[in-house]
Amino acid sequence: MNGNLIITNASEVVTCSGFTAKKGKEMSALGIIADGAVVIEQGKITRVGATADVMSEFMASGRDFSDFNTINASGKAVLPGFVDSHTHLVFGGYRADEFAWRLKGDSYMDILQRGGGILSTVAATRGAAREDLVQSGLKRLDSMLAFGVTTVEAKSGYGLDRATEIKQLEVMADLNRRHPLDVVPTFMGAHAVPPEFKGREDAYIDFVLADVVPEVASRKLAEFCDVFCEKKVFSVEQSRRLLTRAAASGLKAKLHADEIVQLGGAELAAEIGAVSADHLLHASEDGIRAMAGAGVVATLLPATAFSLREPYARGRFMIDAGCAVALATDFNPGSCFCESIPLIAALAALYMNLTPEEIVTALTLNGAAALGRADRIGSLEPGKQGDVVILESPSYRFIPYHIGVSTVEKVIKGGVLVFDKLKQGGVRC
Ligand code: NIG
Ligand code: FE
Repeated sequence: MNGNLIITNASEVVTCSGFTAKKGKEMSALGIIADGAVVIEQGKITRVGATADVMSEFMASGRDFSDFNTINASGKAVLPGFVDSHTHLVFGGYRADEFAWRLKGDSYMDILQRGGGILSTVAATRGAAREDLVQSGLKRLDSMLAFGVTTVEAKSGYGLDRATEIKQLEVMADLNRRHPLDVVPTFMGAHAVPPEFKGREDAYIDFVLADVVPEVASRKLAEFCDVFCEKKVFSVEQSRRLLTRAAASGLKAKLHADEIVQLGGAELAAEIGAVSADHLLHASEDGIRAMAGAGVVATLLPATAFSLREPYARGRFMIDAGCAVALATDFNPGSCFCESIPLIAALAALYMNLTPEEIVTALTLNGAAALGRADRIGSLEPGKQGDVVILESPSYRFIPYHIGVSTVEKVIKGGVLVFDKLKQGGVRC
């Protein structure tokens, strides 16, 4: 397929137009075109508008229709592909036992302190064959694609040694080559303190900076560096040292910030100009205002709060304070074994008081901004990548409303149909 596609007669084309993150009130502007059409040529969007206008221009231009695939999206809403900007999708083993312990009252952090949690996935990932990680990764990407995700971020951090961190990042590069979804890699060597460095957090940060970051940066295995800035994991000082040194090597900063306790992660993100700060369940009001001022994307992960039975991040307050908010799944085997975009949308609506319009912006343009890609993806307008979702429903409003159930019918990546619910029971094309 050549990446030439014309979508016509959509009940609405939700353009989400913009080339930078939308902050505060701007998040409500979706740029909707009724009875809309989208033209994609060689993978890039060249025209978006009312079907009648787009088609008459197309005819007048003398271009050959037979070079284009066509989709009539009558009665269906058309949106940019979703950007899941925070996941930990490459891992060995599962933690269903831990989920059951938590149901009985065990806490996520206590399990980690006992050497389980993240560290149990570290043991399984160290022992996993590379090809097994690729095969499980491909299946997970298929599931994400069916939810309408066209770009996904993936973090390392289940190695915590040089070889396994590199193995995870190499698996991501392989997944990126072998699957239609774009996989954006983040180095998260500072996800937990490995058993070999127990009680020696500073020494572990020294090791990561001296022995792992240089190879990750020189081989361009990751675009971002992330850290679990949390009580009993890595302090604000340790996180600052890691992220500023990694940034000097070309890895842009992200943080797991104020997830379990209020530690000052939001303030640190603003201070160092991180691209995003994620979780933020316990972020201070001053920290949130500082993030808004510094243009740090607040990436909220409501399914993690749901799964850990923690209070939700204050999404409404953040938007009212002028933040750019993104929503993502945090898909991982422990705190949030969930890749469901519609569940994220419903939780954001019901428990964070985001409007359906803000939710769509948070899942598209602002997700793209959280990955430094708002200039390339996240909206439907000329110059952007032809990554499109066609719903079976007439309106974007069905995304949070149909709770936990995907309303995505077709997914287009670079102008090519890559998922169709109507074909063979809904498989990757
Ligand atoms: O975003 N909190 C740290 N990291 C992940 C969980 C990883 C895991 O539990 O395996 C998170 O919640
Ligand atoms: Fe996470």
